[in-house]
Amino acid sequence: MTTLRENIEARKTFAIISHPDAGKTTLTEKLLYFGGMLREAGTVKGKKSGKHAASDWMDVEKERGISVTSSVMEFDYKGSRINILDTPGHEDFSEDTYRTLTAADSATMLIDVAKGVEAQTKKLFKVCRMRGIPIFTFINKLDREGRDPFDLMEELEEVLGIRSCPMNWPIGMGKRLQGIYDRQLNKVELFDDAVGHIETLDVSGPDDPLFDERLDETVVAQFREEVELLDVAGDPYDEEAIAAGTLTPIFFGSAMANFGVQNFLEHFQQMAPSPAPRESDEGRIDPVESSFSGFIFKIQANMNPKHRDRIAFLRITSGKYEQGMTVKQPRLNKNIRLAQPTQFLAQDRDIVSEAYAGDIIGLFDPGTFGIGDTLTAEGSFQFDEMPHFSPELFAAVEPKDVMKHKSFDKGMSQLTEEGLVQLFRTENQVPAQQIIGAVGELQFEVLEQRLQTEYNSNVRMERKPYQVARWVDGSDEAIEDIKKRHRHLLRDKDDRLVAVFESEFQLQMAQGKFPDITFYENVFQM
Ligand code: G4P
Repeated sequence: MTTLRENIEARKTFAIISHPDAGKTTLTEKLLYFGGMLREAGTVKGKKSGKHAASDWMDVEKERGISVTSSVMEFDYKGSRINILDTPGHEDFSEDTYRTLTAADSATMLIDVAKGVEAQTKKLFKVCRMRGIPIFTFINKLDREGRDPFDLMEELEEVLGIRSCPMNWPIGMGKRLQGIYDRQLNKVELFDDAVGHIETLDVSGPDDPLFDERLDETVVAQFREEVELLDVAGDPYDEEAIAAGTLTPIFFGSAMANFGVQNFLEHFQQMAPSPAPRESDEGRIDPVESSFSGFIFKIQANMNPKHRDRIAFLRITSGKYEQGMTVKQPRLNKNIRLAQPTQFLAQDRDIVSEAYAGDIIGLFDPGTFGIGDTLTAEGSFQFDEMPHFSPELFAAVEPKDVMKHKSFDKGMSQLTEEGLVQLFRTENQVPAQQIIGAVGELQFEVLEQRLQTEYNSNVRMERKPYQVARWVDGSDEAIEDIKKRHRHLLRDKDDRLVAVFESEFQLQMAQGKFPDITFYENVFQM
């Protein structure tokens, strides 16, 4: 019988972070294929054929053909239970994307070989960095001409500040792609552009004569030079640095050609971390030693338009969930019976009878759950508060019909509690204006739509020109000073003072003008 420890240690829960079009959907499909979840490699979606990703839920997404909501996919591979947390890949991504990363134990950063590190990857990387989780890198689209791999490694270091250690190395690229060489296992996977992977060879090292027998001479010569350079000048494999997220193991491949994906998965399954202890207000909660606990990182309303329901996504942080168990919600000091939790594989929502630390389950939300809530089987501790991410878009919002203030207020309060947008009010105005902040445009659209359909409240939104928000702190004098001399101040829902700016440059100016004020990117750094 499998023990609790074995079950928990088998869990590998991760998120793929990437910029739109890098190939996240394609990679996910191939991973699900190796996990036995898809019969053919490639049936989750075809953008052009009009089918949608199985993880696309809401109508807005369907209209746009993008994935807004983060769902969860799971499969077993060689004794591990792999949970993939999907993060929306469109530019219109939202705070949910960031929050999902708090539920992951590691991340895989997917990079287009021709494009390198792109804007959205940078943002998501920053959040992973903040958490100190291991970050794997998959450099995709090797079947196309791309940038020099050394260039890309340099970019990782310069732009993201992370050193890298290639686990495999391409033999050629684009039209000349012949294979990848696994530096650790001394294996060569041969590539054919018609079928992708054709054969795996065992070699003694990059100088093995098999290379000369089977592959193109000039490609092999260049490959040998590169690997030699890598051995001399590259970072060595260092488990501790990888675990701390300061060194990223790199894998090359082509998701579309299903090439290098299994090689990645093999290493990932071995290297990726199992659920780690989490900090709470009563100290560290060990995933194996403690009984059931978890936290809610996302609430999704109306996943099924036929039933007006809200689903709370719970990341189990310790112990085991059993069907029908009663848990405590310390924030409200309430007991709740978890009646019918669901597990996610894209659209099929199965009822789960048991789940372990590392897993994500969906709970029907009676309307009392909030983002960041802890649920526990024993004890009354709470996990650290969910970080609020620095909004980059702002709008003033008010009901069109002033007579309908009540339903507007109710909607705003529920939807902001759900974490749909962040709510602020202006500091220097009487009466204060309500300002909403978001990291993605779509959050505003969804808010407007939901206020209308769920609360029958039509709103007027007026965009504000701010792009940067900083929570501010300092002595009473310094705060008085900034209140006098900086006009653009807001209060967050907990009454903390936030300064807003129209650009990074303006922020820098303010930092010079108010040397006694500390500017924090999010509440968590305070
Ligand atoms: P995303 O979820 O990160 O946005 O990316 P997605 O997988 O949808 O891939 C974006 C485009 O890149 C798709 O082409 C996909 O086929 C292509 N792609 C993904 N992996 C590879 C790869 O390894 N090599 C090459 N050459 N292309 C790759 P599309 O034309 O936009 O759409 P589709 O009709 O193929 O779905």
